Amino acid sequence: MPLVDALGRTITYLRVSVTDRCNLRCQYCMPAEGVPGQRHDDILRYEEIERIVRAAAGLGVWKVRLTGGEPLVRKDLPSLVRLLRDVPGVREITMTTNATLLDRHAQELADAGLDRVNVSLDTLDPTQYAAITRCGNVEDALRGLEAAEAAGLTPIKVNSVVARGMNDGALVDLARLTLERPWSVRFIEWMPLNGDAAQCAEGFIPAAETRATLERSLGPLSPVEDTRAERGLGPAVYYRLPGAAGTIGFISAVSQHFCAACNRLRLTADGRLRLCLLADDEVDLRALVRAGADQAAIQRALQRAVAAKPAGHHLADHVAPAGRHMSEIGG
Ligand code: 5AD
Ligand code: SF4
Repeated sequence: MPLVDALGRTITYLRVSVTDRCNLRCQYCMPAEGVPGQRHDDILRYEEIERIVRAAAGLGVWKVRLTGGEPLVRKDLPSLVRLLRDVPGVREITMTTNATLLDRHAQELADAGLDRVNVSLDTLDPTQYAAITRCGNVEDALRGLEAAEAAGLTPIKVNSVVARGMNDGALVDLARLTLERPWSVRFIEWMPLNGDAAQCAEGFIPAAETRATLERSLGPLSPVEDTRAERGLGPAVYYRLPGAAGTIGFISAVSQHFCAACNRLRLTADGRLRLCLLADDEVDLRALVRAGADQAAIQRALQRAVAAKPAGHHLADHVAPAGRHMSEIGG
C-alpha cells in the first residue's frame, strides 16, 4: 500500500533531521542566541531512524535526505548512511549541509553510500558570509564543495536563500558559478518560520525579481527541458545561461507555491513526523518506536499521519508556523 494522502498526493520522499544543532547561526534560520538544544535522550538513535525509514520504505518511500541543523555535527553519520543503504526500497540517500565540515567527511560518506549533497551557500563574499551565518568562514564551505565533487557526491546543488539587504548583491556571482561548474545553483524564497514573519516580509524577494536581477547582468536564461528523472520530484524550476556547465533554479515556495505536488514528509530529530514544512502539525513516532511498536504498527501510524497531511500552507493569509525554527526541521 503506497502512502497516498487525502488529496491523492503520493509520498515517496522523507527528509530526516538527524540533529537540531548547527555550527552556524544563519540569520533566517535561527535567532542570534541560537535555539536551546534538544536533550541527547530525546534525539532518535540511528537504529530508531532506521526502523522508521524501513517502515516508510515498505510503503513506497524511496528517497531519503539527511538534514539538520547541520547533519555533520552529529557523530558518525556514515554509520547511519550504511544502515539506510541496506533498507529495501531506499534508492537514493542525499544530504543537505552547509559543507563547512564536509572536507573531512565527504569520502567516508560516499563510501558509506551517500549519493549526493545539497550545499547551503548564500554568498561567496567572505565578509557577507560571516555576517549571514554569524560565525562561518566561506573558505570552509568552498573547501567542502570541492571535497564533495572529488568524492563524487554529485550532481551538486547549491541552495541560496534570497533576502534583501542580506545577499541581494551576491546573487549574480552565485549564478556565475554555473558557467564553469556542473552545479545547480538554486535561489530560494525566504519563508517565515517561528516569529520572523515581520522581518521576512521586509526582506522578501520573489523569485521573479531574482530572475530579473540575474538576467539584467547575465543575459536571458533559457528554460531547461524536463528530461532529468528527478525533475517533477522537486519544486525547483531550472534555467541555463548560454554555454553554462550547470543550471540555475528557482524555488518559489511563497510566491507560487507547489503544495499540490508535494511528495514529502519530514522526521524531526526528536522523532516527530512533520506533515508540512510550513504547518505545525506533527505526529509523535518516537513514543511509538520506543514502546516497541512493530513494523506494521509504525506503518499504520504513517498511513494515519499522511491522511491528515495539510493541503498546503497559508502564508498568503499571514498564517505562519509558530512551533519550530527552521534549524529544528531541516528545510
Ligand atoms: N526560508 C527558506 N529557506 C531556508 N533555509 C533555512 N531557513 C530558511 C528560510 N527561512 C534553507 C537553508 C538550507 C535548507 C535546509 O533550508 O538555506 O539550504
Ligand atoms: Fe545551520 Fe543551515 Fe540553519 Fe545555517 S541554514 S544555521 S547552516 S541549519
